Amino acid sequence: MYNAGKIIFGLLIFLALVTFPFYNNIGKVSAKPEPKIDTPEIQKLPENERKCVEPKDFMRGEHMQMLNDWRDSVVREDNGIYMSSQGKQFNMSLQNTCMKCHSNKKEFCDKCHNYMAVAPYCWTCHIQPKENKS
Ligand code: HEC
Ligand code: HEC
Ligand code: HEC
Repeated sequence: MYNAGKIIFGLLIFLALVTFPFYNNIGKVSAKPEPKIDTPEIQKLPENERKCVEPKDFMRGEHMQMLNDWRDSVVREDNGIYMSSQGKQFNMSLQNTCMKCHSNKKEFCDKCHNYMAVAPYCWTCHIQPKENKS
């Protein structure tokens, strides 16, 4: 004969164990990395214009897609100008636009990517900004 109480208790323990990694991660995820934006190029901008190509939240979630779209646009459609939602124009270039402002790849892009364990393969071809710190 099985004991229903014991089985339920066992199931609860099991559930607690399988979901533990999830609960255990909540705190870590909220302790987000702080990508630095204090580059010379960004410092040069007037304070109220220290903005990215698109609003920060959008960039945070969509920059990968944006880079893909930029590449397709440049390489396939031969169109190199991006018109932002604020009506500003940008040259669609990883090296000459993104990395010009974000010249601190290690303190910016890599901060997040290392934390999230993503390693974009772009830099085998595209030139990284030169940085003194390693
Ligand atoms: C004109 C300078 C400039 C250019 C060009 C630029 N950025 Fe930014 N970027 C910034 C600034 C300034 C911020 C911080 C915005 C804020 O705090 O509102 C930022 C924020 C971001 C963020 C969000 C960071 C965070 O803390 O959430 C990402 C991701 C990002 N940029 C990626 C890119 C990529 C990819 C490109 C090229 C497609 C790019 N940026 C081009 C200046 C720039
Ligand atoms: C606020 C954190 C953050 C910052 C800052 C950031 N990234 Fe990312 N990036 C991510 C995350 C998270 C992913 C993975 C998204 C996914 O897998 O859906 C990612 C993915 C990417 C990818 C796609 C990689 C792949 O293999 O699919 C590219 C390309 C990329 N980032 C480029 C950049 C560049 C260039 C910069 C600096 C200018 C930058 N990112 C800054 C968080 C960030
Ligand atoms: C195998 C080599 C290679 C890799 C890897 C690569 N690219 Fe490129 N990319 C190119 C070449 C070649 C061009 C065309 C350059 C041109 O037409 O000016 C290009 C163009 C681009 C452009 C538009 C032009 C410019 O100056 O930036 C973007 C944006 C871009 N790539 C983003 C990326 C991103 C993001 C990654 C990583 C997820 C990546 N590329 C990985 C070779 C590569």
